[in-house]
Amino acid sequence: MKLYSNPASPYVRKVRITAQELGLNDRIELVSITLTPVSPHEGVRASNPIGKIPTLVLDDGTALYDSPVICEYLDTLAGGNRIFPAAGAARWTALRRQAIADGIMEAAVLTRYEDAVRPKELRWQAWADGQFLKIRTALDVLEHEHLESAFDIGTLSIVSALGYLDFRFASEGWRATRPRLAAWAAAVSKRPSVAATAPAAA
Ligand code: BEZ
Repeated sequence: MKLYSNPASPYVRKVRITAQELGLNDRIELVSITLTPVSPHEGVRASNPIGKIPTLVLDDGTALYDSPVICEYLDTLAGGNRIFPAAGAARWTALRRQAIADGIMEAAVLTRYEDAVRPKELRWQAWADGQFLKIRTALDVLEHEHLESAFDIGTLSIVSALGYLDFRFASEGWRATRPRLAAWAAAVSKRPSVAATAPAAA
């Protein structure tokens, strides 16, 4: 399988942590690419009409996207219900946490594009402030979750979101008012799959 990826992408990191947790690393070839909304990648576009990473291309040419779908596919490949709880409250909690984390990533990546790609004269501060309101509100909710009980698609998504904030928005200092979340992030950062996938500039 071929995974279109970028070492800075928090969505790709979700897939990489998942693959490592499930022992599937050896079956995935990472194809590192760069892209932005204004400089798409033709190889990715050929497989994924939305043109985003991560995109996983299976050996038979079938393409899967986006990160929730790829992670669930890998989970199934590894026997199922290893990082996606099978049913009941545990499943809905994990999926809800994944949605919160993916929402943080979306707001953060859009803000990153605003800072790094959009011409200065076209920037809109109120829009960027609105994205950060989402991020801060979501982090406040996560501060009150009992995250230590599971390492699943919910918590590994949160790890990826927090790692991206540290990587691109360190000055936000999210830990200052969220000590429980900070302590959890420090503990979970020692996990091999998390340590091995820390974000890096391409
Ligand atoms: C980044 O450089 O921040 C980035 C790269 C790819 C996807 C998302 C973010």
